[in-house]
Amino acid sequence: MEYVIEMLNIRKEFPGVVANDDITMQVKKGEIHALLGENGAGKSTLMNVLFGLYQPEKGEIRINNERVNITNPNIANDLGIGMVHQHFMLVEPFTVTQNIILGSEPTRKSGKIDIKRAEKEIRELSDRYGLKVDPTAKISDISVGMQQRVEILKTLYRGANILIFDEPTAVLTPQEIKELIEIMHALIREGKSIILITHKLKEIMEVCDRCTVMRKGKGIGTVDVKDTNVNELASLMVGRKVSFTTEKTLANPKEVVLQIADLFVKDTRKVELVKGLNLEIKAGEIVGIAGIDGNGQTELIEALTGLTKAESGTIKLRGKPITNLKPRKVTESGIGHIPQDRHKYGLVLDYPIGENMVLQTYYKEPFSKGTILNYKEIYKKATELIQEYDVRTPSAYTKASALSGGNQQKAIIGREIDRSPDLLIAAQPTRGLDVGAIEFIHKRLIEERDKGRAILLVSFELDEIMDVSDRIAVMFDGEVVAELNPEQTNEQELGLLMAGSQVNGAGENQ
Ligand SMILES: Nc1ncnc2c1ncn2[C@@H]1O[C@H](COP(=O)(O)OP(=O)(O)OP(=O)(O)O)[C@@H](O)[C@H]1O
Ligand SMILES: [Mg+2]
Repeated sequence: MEYVIEMLNIRKEFPGVVANDDITMQVKKGEIHALLGENGAGKSTLMNVLFGLYQPEKGEIRINNERVNITNPNIANDLGIGMVHQHFMLVEPFTVTQNIILGSEPTRKSGKIDIKRAEKEIRELSDRYGLKVDPTAKISDISVGMQQRVEILKTLYRGANILIFDEPTAVLTPQEIKELIEIMHALIREGKSIILITHKLKEIMEVCDRCTVMRKGKGIGTVDVKDTNVNELASLMVGRKVSFTTEKTLANPKEVVLQIADLFVKDTRKVELVKGLNLEIKAGEIVGIAGIDGNGQTELIEALTGLTKAESGTIKLRGKPITNLKPRKVTESGIGHIPQDRHKYGLVLDYPIGENMVLQTYYKEPFSKGTILNYKEIYKKATELIQEYDVRTPSAYTKASALSGGNQQKAIIGREIDRSPDLLIAAQPTRGLDVGAIEFIHKRLIEERDKGRAILLVSFELDEIMDVSDRIAVMFDGEVVAELNPEQTNEQELGLLMAGSQVNGAGENQ
């Protein structure tokens, strides 16, 4: 038989939800097999079953035609299965090599760990697959893209033949995505097989051979990618037609809400990354920041939200200076923030999702009186938001950590929009969301704009910037180098500006 992996009639339940209901997925040797489905459909769960993190209640798994019992990840490793998780699992203060060998350290005769040998082996592996990883670098010093490659190397070092990637491109920049695709092709050439979870349908069309579709815990079927298209894939997963263009009327900008003048901000390593930035956003408009990662976007947002102190310059909200206020004061002055890193700043994972829905307002009426929390009001509000934003969870009392990645994100977006801030900062708001949810969130952002909010959108997805923004500010080397009307520009021009080239006429729009 030609299958390297067969997952047959898998069932996996959690309290209140059947995450996998009779799922069958068969992967051929040497293929890139996509696993597609809405947020909460059960994709990560199915892969965690394959990797031995969860035990299924029913069903069987076969590897190269032999029935196996994968009761823990070590057994998965021994069977040649490796997984690159949705949220990485690296130890930050350790080096690349220390992370990779953790748990399977090579030793000398004396019993001591042989770091040099490991470094050499890792360097060889890295060269063979074009990963360009430095085995001696510290995890905390390398980019997210590089960290992901360390996760890939970790699986290869343990001899993986079957690699599972859970939404690997969600955290990458467009350039890093191109490189990852090359790496995946190199892996296939060396005889590996790949399972790829992604919400980006274009990616599936570009790199995958076949695609298995799930919807609400059930298997919808497997299609040959060459016989399908983006629209069909979308309707298979969502169960209805999805529109890919965002309908919107012209903006009607009013008074200035946010005013940033001559702002300078340093990053955590004291390197100046925002260098004299000027930008204004008016009520009733969406300004999209286009820029390659590392040009000061993160530091700009951190300064706006009070997470980092500005070195100099001023930030005003409706004419009032808010420069260097504490995060809670910033929130109270009227700024909402959908953070880029949802685990670091967005949620308290150990708390119920319901309580996470009032993280900024729990200390106020009606959610508390004095120091006493009013849980009835808190859960009433939470239940409303959960419905409105289609946050799929068994209940409002479920811990945030038990929600799927995309549903965690929808919860944060709902919470931040609902507070009706004067200024909403949305950093990579649709990262990890399925096509249906993206459509919904874009609509909501435009509705908020039309209610007179000012919206700052930061995204690496140029499609999103072009579709949703009323004005595009290109950020390069810590400054806004051009402001463009999305109707009068294109991806080529944006790409050049983002890379620091001068383009004739740019910056004269608006
Ligand atoms: N550890 C857990 N405890 C309880 N419920 C869980 C747990 N992990 C997942 N679930 C539930 O199982 C269902 C499927 O979740 P899963 O993470 O597999 O979805 P997904 O398809 O990967 O979605 P996404 O695209 O958002 O990542 C969801 O309803 C989720 O809330
Ligand atoms: Mg998932």
